[in-house]
Amino acid sequence: MRTMVGIVGGGPAGLLLSHLLHLQGIDSVVLEARGREELEAEIRAGVLEHGTTELLVETGVGDRMRKEGAVHHGVNLQFDGRRERIDLEGLTGKTITLYGQHEVVKDLIRTRLDAGGEVLFRAKGLGLQDLESEEPKVRFVKGDEEYELRCDFVVGTDGFHGVSREAFPEGARAEYGRRYPFGWFGILVEGPPSTEELIYALHERGFALVSTRSPEIQRLYFQCDPDDDASNWSDDRIWTEMHARLDTDDGWTVNEGKIIQKNVVQMRSFVCEPMRHGRLFLAGDAAHIVPPTGAKGMNLAVADVRVLSRGLAEFYRSGSTGVLDNYSEICLKRVWKASRFSWWMTSMLHRFDGDNAFQYRMQVAELDYVTGSRAAATSLAENYVGLPMEWRE
Ligand code: DHB
Repeated sequence: MRTMVGIVGGGPAGLLLSHLLHLQGIDSVVLEARGREELEAEIRAGVLEHGTTELLVETGVGDRMRKEGAVHHGVNLQFDGRRERIDLEGLTGKTITLYGQHEVVKDLIRTRLDAGGEVLFRAKGLGLQDLESEEPKVRFVKGDEEYELRCDFVVGTDGFHGVSREAFPEGARAEYGRRYPFGWFGILVEGPPSTEELIYALHERGFALVSTRSPEIQRLYFQCDPDDDASNWSDDRIWTEMHARLDTDDGWTVNEGKIIQKNVVQMRSFVCEPMRHGRLFLAGDAAHIVPPTGAKGMNLAVADVRVLSRGLAEFYRSGSTGVLDNYSEICLKRVWKASRFSWWMTSMLHRFDGDNAFQYRMQVAELDYVTGSRAAATSLAENYVGLPMEWRE
C-alpha cells in the first residue's frame, strides 16, 4: 500500500490533517487502532478556541458545530465564597465554543469518508521504519493480516501512548514533563446546565469545574486522588462533594441529575523536543500533553496540523522544505506557552498535598488579583481564547 502522507492515529489531529491535505490535493491514509463507534463515543474535552472554530468553519467542517455548539463570552472563577467573571469577549474581542471533541471527530470522519478519504479503523500501528529515507514506512495490523504502508511522509498523531514517538532513534529527542499529584473525576449528567458559563472553582476541599455539553447535558469535574477509581464513588457521594465545593451562600446550587458516565483523568505536563525526526512529524498528544485546566489539549493539536498541512502543501507545490524544516520550532513556541498557561491555571486552582494555609491564601490572593486587575484578567483571557498564531500563513 502506498500514499503521500501516512497518518498514524485517527483522533482530531490525524483526521483534521487528512482533511486539510485533501483540500490541497494531497492524498493520505489514516490508520486508527480503534473502531469508529468507540472513537466517536469517547468523551474528552469540549472547549474550542476562537482560532480552532474559525479553521473548522473555513475548511467546511464547522456547520454542525455552529448549529449545536454554544458560544461562551466569558468564564467564571470562584474562590473564597465569591464568583467573579472574566469577560473574555470584552477583554480580547474573542469567544470560545463548547462542543465536544468527539463531535468534532464525528464531523471529520463523515467529511473524510464522504470525500472518498481512506480512514482505516481497527488498523493498529506496529512500528515505523526508514524515517531518514525518502520513503518511510508504517507497519500495521488489521484483522489477522500485517501490512506495510509506504509514504513520502509519516505523521504520528497516535497520542501519548502511541508507537510514533518511540520511533525516534535513541538520543534523538528530549522529554520534559511532570505528573500532578491529583486527577479529575469527571461526570456527564442529564439535566439542564447549572450556569450559562463555565465555573472554575478553588475550594479548601479542592478544585471543581462546572461545564456543559448541550442544553440537556452537564459536564462536571472535581479534583480527586489520581489513582482513585470511579467505582469508589456512589452518586450520593459525588453530589455531596460537588455541593461542598461549588454551592454558594447566595443560594446558588449545582443542579443534580442522572449521572450517565463517570471517569477519572490523570494529569500531566509533557513536551517532546523536537517534534520531527527525518520524515516523521509528531502532532497533538503524541508530542505534548497539558493538564486539562487550561482547556488547551485539542486546540494545540489543531495548531500543529495547521502548520504541518501548510508545510506539506508547500513541499508538494514547489519542493521547498522551508516550513517543514521549521515545523518543530514553530509549534514548540506555542506548545510551551500553552504548557505554561495550563500549569499556571492548574497550580492556581488545585490543592496540593502538603500545602498549608499560607499556600491556600496565596492562591486566593492570586485569584483576587487576576479577577480584579484588568491587566491580569486580560492575560488570562488572551491565553484562554487562544494566543494568535505568531507564524503567518
Ligand atoms: C471542559 C474540559 C476542560 O478541561 C476545561 O478546562 C473546561 C471544560 C469540558 O470538558 O467541558
